[in-house]
Amino acid sequence: MPDVNIREARAGDAVRMAEILREIGWSDRRNTLPLEEVAGPIEKLIEHCVSDREGHSIIVAADEDDTVLGFLNVHWVPFIMLGSLEGYVSDVFVSPSEGGMGVGKALVEHVIEEGKQRGCMRLMLTNGKEKLSYKTGFYKKLGWTERPSVANFVYYYREPWS
Ligand SMILES: CC(C)(COP(=O)(O)OP(=O)(O)OC[C@H]1O[C@@H](n2cnc3c(N)ncnc32)[C@H](O)[C@@H]1OP(=O)(O)O)[C@@H](O)C(=O)NCCC(=O)NCCS
Repeated sequence: MPDVNIREARAGDAVRMAEILREIGWSDRRNTLPLEEVAGPIEKLIEHCVSDREGHSIIVAADEDDTVLGFLNVHWVPFIMLGSLEGYVSDVFVSPSEGGMGVGKALVEHVIEEGKQRGCMRLMLTNGKEKLSYKTGFYKKLGWTERPSVANFVYYYREPWS
C-alpha cells in the first residue's frame, strides 16, 4: 500500500473528490457536468460535516504529497430504538488508479475504530449488489454482516445530480 495519511477532509479537497467520483463513473449526468458544478455541492457538504464533528466524520486518505486517493463519510445517528448511536457510512470511494492497494480497507478500519471510541452500537451502509465491491466481499472481509431480512427503502425528492 502507498504510504497513506488519514485526515479530516477540507473544503479544498472537494475538486479532487469530484474527480474521484467521475473516475469511478456510475452517473453519466455527473460525468458530463463541468467539474466545478460537481465540486460545488461537495464543498458545501464538507463544510456542513466539519462544522458538526459530533454528528459527522468526513475523512480522506492522502499520499505523501497530500494527494487525496479516497474518502469516507460517516454520520453518527442517535438511534432511539438502539438506545445508542448508529454510524451511517454514506460514502466510501477510492480512485480506481489506486484501487486494490488497501486504501479502502484503511478508511473503513479507521471508521470502525472511531465508532468504537465513540461508544457506537453499530455501523451501517448500503452496497449495490451489482458492484464489484459487493461481489468481491469487500465489507464481509472487513467483518461486516449482511442483513438478508432487511429491505432498503429510499424516498426520492429528485434523482441524484438532476
Ligand atoms: C470498494 C472500494 C472502496 C475498495 O477500495 P480499495 O482501496 O480498492 O480496496 P482495498 O485495496 O482496501 O481492498 C480490500 C479488499 O477488497 C477487495 N476489493 C475491493 N475492491 C475490489 C475491486 N474493485 N476489485 C477486486 N477486489 C476488490 C480486495 O481484493 C481486498 O481484498 P484482500 O484484502 O483479501 O486482498 C473501491 O473499489 C471503490 O471506491 N469502489 C467504487 C465505489 C464503491 O463500490 N464503494 C463502496 C460502496 S458505496
